[in-house]
Amino acid sequence: MTAFVHRDQARDQARDQASEQAVGRAEPRLEARAKVTGQARYADDHPLPGSAYAWPVRAAFARGRISTVDTADALAVDGVVCVIWHGNAPRLEPGDDPDLLVLQSPEVWYYGQVIALVVATTLERAQEGADLVTVRTDPMAADTVLRADHPGLHEPEIVNAGLPGRVDTGDFDAGFAAAEVRVDATYRTPAEHHNPMEPHATTAFWERGQLTVFDATQASSSVRDTLAALFELPPQLVRVHNEHVGGGFGSKGAPRPNVVLAAMAARCAGRPVHLALGRSMLFTMGGYRTPTIQRIRLGADADGRLVALAHESVTQTSRLTEYTEQCAAVSRVHYPPANLTTSHRVVALDVPPPTWMRAPGECPGSFALESAIDELAVAGSWDPVQLRIDNDTARDAEGRPFSSRHLVECLRAGADRFGWAGRDPHPGSRREGRWLLGTGVAASSFPAITWPSTATARATADGHFEVAVNAADIGTGARTVMRQIAADALGVDEPSVQIRVGDSDIGFATIAGGSMGTSSWGWAVTKACRLLRERLDREHHGQCPPEGVAVVADTTADLAARGEYARHAFGAQFCAVRVDPATGEVRLDRMLGVFAAGRIINPTTAESQLAGAMTMGVSMALLEQSVLDARTGDFVTDDLASYHVAVNADIPRIDVTFLPEADPHLNPMGSKGIGELGIVGAAAAVANAVHHATGVRIRSLPITPAALL
Ligand code: MOS
Repeated sequence: MTAFVHRDQARDQARDQASEQAVGRAEPRLEARAKVTGQARYADDHPLPGSAYAWPVRAAFARGRISTVDTADALAVDGVVCVIWHGNAPRLEPGDDPDLLVLQSPEVWYYGQVIALVVATTLERAQEGADLVTVRTDPMAADTVLRADHPGLHEPEIVNAGLPGRVDTGDFDAGFAAAEVRVDATYRTPAEHHNPMEPHATTAFWERGQLTVFDATQASSSVRDTLAALFELPPQLVRVHNEHVGGGFGSKGAPRPNVVLAAMAARCAGRPVHLALGRSMLFTMGGYRTPTIQRIRLGADADGRLVALAHESVTQTSRLTEYTEQCAAVSRVHYPPANLTTSHRVVALDVPPPTWMRAPGECPGSFALESAIDELAVAGSWDPVQLRIDNDTARDAEGRPFSSRHLVECLRAGADRFGWAGRDPHPGSRREGRWLLGTGVAASSFPAITWPSTATARATADGHFEVAVNAADIGTGARTVMRQIAADALGVDEPSVQIRVGDSDIGFATIAGGSMGTSSWGWAVTKACRLLRERLDREHHGQCPPEGVAVVADTTADLAARGEYARHAFGAQFCAVRVDPATGEVRLDRMLGVFAAGRIINPTTAESQLAGAMTMGVSMALLEQSVLDARTGDFVTDDLASYHVAVNADIPRIDVTFLPEADPHLNPMGSKGIGELGIVGAAAAVANAVHHATGVRIRSLPITPAALL
């Protein structure tokens, strides 16, 4: 008998409890029908009378200055309303992100930067006008290539997510020197791009000094504040709608230039403006994951206990903004030994600004760490599942106890379900026809982050409830799980609750990112609903008065009152591959992920999150690679024909299993984030399986046929 709950079991259990509790019930997305029938409106789907369309002109070099911009031919095109460039653009108030100071100066910081914007009555006329803008430039020599010995590398004190750049404990050198078994290897991951189905897009209009935008964003509260600051407006004069968002993966986490350009264009043109970026533009303006170079050194004693670990990460940022991907953070969490060093160095290059991409830090970091652990297992003749179990820990590298940690249980349940027992560890030992077969394992984790948010709960006289929280539903099922949470907190059936999301006027709520959405919004929703229920019971004998009752809740104080814990979700991923030794072709046979991520609010949407992230991890392992032309700083793989992502035929079978996990130190729901966990460790599981199949250790992603031959 095993301890895990498979998703089918979870569904059965959920069905049994259906009459009592909404949380835990497997439910389809509330907006599913609206989406498949085309009723759901995305940022560019808001037809407004008199609309114009904007199209950017972009720099075709990595570094330099614009000397002249000639707009005469563009303005002569029938239907062109205006051409905006740094000589005539409205001035913006500088803020935190220099990349948003669009069209403010003649400086060019990266290939693909917007240097002019043409606004016209149709998209085609805007594109024609953009072709006719003549720009004279003074390009300078550009520095675009990341190297581990780049003289510009420096070590920031704080890296992404506010983490310390360096965490050292004990004495790594002494521990490593004394170890019985050692690994010293360097891993590389290429630049990777998020390609949400919906591109970055904005519809903007001004009305009596008020700015309204429909924006493809994961965080409309932050877009509102950013636009207010840039255009020097009181925040209440800016409203940002994002009722439906077609994917983000972090690329829509922070406001991007498109929303500023659209707002600017709407002001200049004096009418509503649509700006939907073309697919190729996303590869620069949508951000990307920095390439990484990570050196890992592991030392273990004769029994396979880690005694020393060094994780040194090298990444790039742009000259415009500093962003340091926290690759080594995962080594502070999985198996931190007594002697540990983790550090980050970054160099500013003439490249587009890198940004958050699904599990920034943990994703590339786990490829390095979990590959190195596999190398250690091979070097010491230890089973890679058992080696991980033997190095489990109750505290992170900084000494904080885990609020809950079921990595060992995930590894055991996964091994059992996958059929790991009896695996011959020798590489190349299993064949089926022309194929070499291999299996691999890796651990996953992701921080369980919660951020203050607000929510409003309203009772209406007709017995209904309206709950508003400024969540962004980026395809995850956010509004669906918010309704489940609200119904339980109010003690009512789900159909009597209406959920409103995706509007900055609702009030501040945090980003749909960092896997923190459900925990953060759900806490605010729970609090508002419980307060409303109490008030109805106390002041109105449980009945709603004719004028209705509304309660606003803010979780800032609740969050500050929590204890000091290391909060993370954990998981184990198992992978079976086949490799054709004649061609180097790798096919995925199956993949299994077992996760302990607190209380699962909705098994249907949760499974989608995990399976989707695992798919993205397989894609990272086998396909994704952006190629930069070193001379121009141009990502030449800027479409989905040259930048390959996994498709259905690449993913025959992915199973997701959740272990039940109760953690009282998180939030009232007991939930951990699940949006990013599934991509962490996935690429290492594939690479480890490829090694098991072939004996070839690929330390540089992706694992192409050429690399295997
Ligand atoms: Mo995620 S990369 O924080 O949207």
